[in-house]
Amino acid sequence: MAAHTIKLAVAVTCTLLLAAACSGLEVGYYKKSCPRVETIVREEVKKFVYKNAGIGAGLIRLLFHDCFVEGCDGSVLLDPTPANPAPEKLSPPNFPSLRGFEVIDAAKDAVEKACPDVVSCADIVAFAARDAAYFLSRMRVKINMPAGRFDGRHSNSSDALDNLPPPFFNVTELVDIFATKGLDAEDMVVLSGAHTVGRSHCSSFVPDRLAVASDIDGGFAGLLRRRCPANPTTAHDPTVNQDVVTPNAFDNQYYKNVIAHKVLFTSDAALLTSPATAKMVSDNANIPGWWEDRFKKAFVKMAAVDVKNGYQGEIRKNCRVVN
Ligand code: HEM
Ligand SMILES: *[C@@H]1O[C@H](CO)[C@@H](O)[C@H](O)[C@H]1NC(C)=O
Ligand SMILES: *[C@@H]1O[C@H](CO)[C@@H](O)[C@H](O)[C@H]1NC(C)=O
Repeated sequence: MAAHTIKLAVAVTCTLLLAAACSGLEVGYYKKSCPRVETIVREEVKKFVYKNAGIGAGLIRLLFHDCFVEGCDGSVLLDPTPANPAPEKLSPPNFPSLRGFEVIDAAKDAVEKACPDVVSCADIVAFAARDAAYFLSRMRVKINMPAGRFDGRHSNSSDALDNLPPPFFNVTELVDIFATKGLDAEDMVVLSGAHTVGRSHCSSFVPDRLAVASDIDGGFAGLLRRRCPANPTTAHDPTVNQDVVTPNAFDNQYYKNVIAHKVLFTSDAALLTSPATAKMVSDNANIPGWWEDRFKKAFVKMAAVDVKNGYQGEIRKNCRVVN
């Protein structure tokens, strides 16, 4: 077969298969080089999540914020330096709300002791997010997470602002920004279900949900107004649970909340505003196991966005600094 024919065959195969199959990632990637890595990460995640379920929510969000900015390459983990004073980590979508960094540090330390210089920080983020979903779902969301990501050397605050959806986005804007990452409308709806755990700062929803007329449920709005100042500031910005019914359970309650208009963000409520996404919301809310099945696939797909290979990235020694 001529080279161009082979390339075409690969391209065609790739459009037919899951993104992960073509990203070069594979399940059991460290089987020979670091056989205990997934067990080690899971043990660390377990310790933190059983102490504070919110950290599990933070880890699930951490993977999303890593993958949408520069691909899943651990760029969100990099600390500021004199040469790079404004990395992704300090960008408004991430600071001060993003959490779970200490879990990644603990996991990386433990992994380096077992197999130095072999496992990327990007893969640890993906394993940790997978494990957080596993524990918070009471072992119902079980994912085989492909690995083989390399760590990026570039992290710029403005990229986070440009690539992460803000909470005031409408359904077209949400579909469009997910499409830029190779994720479709159903992936977007299914992944939004992660708002079934964790919290939000008042500043993320007060301006467009409570300060002006919105479709939010009256009783729920009243509860939020008692917890949130009318004008949240950096100095006074309390947090509330995302899911008022089962705040720490990774389940499909989120979709029931969307239907009941008891969700925090414009972006959550927006899922009801197109017939196609509204149908998905109702299926996820009503059909047992439907959401969990789809979430597993969409999460693996998200975890493969723009991953770097060994030429484009490195295996960082310390997840907070480039080598
Ligand atoms: C669809 C577009 C999305 C928007 C507009 C959005 C926006 C937000 C915002 C504003 C917060 C609250 C931050 C704060 O103020 O503390 C948040 C929290 C959260 N998001 Fe999203 N998000 C989206 C999609 C996702 C996806 C795809 C995931 C993961 C699969 C995710 C997982 C989470 C989790 C778990 C939390 C709680 C974090 C914690 O408790 O620390 N979100 N999101
Ligand atoms: C970050 O991106 C902005 C906007 O593209 C650019 O002006 C700035 O120089 C970048 N910073 C670094 C350290 O690369
Ligand atoms: C969403 O917002 C964009 C930009 O503001 C606008 O052009 C579009 O019509 C809006 N779509 C919906 C469904 O409201």
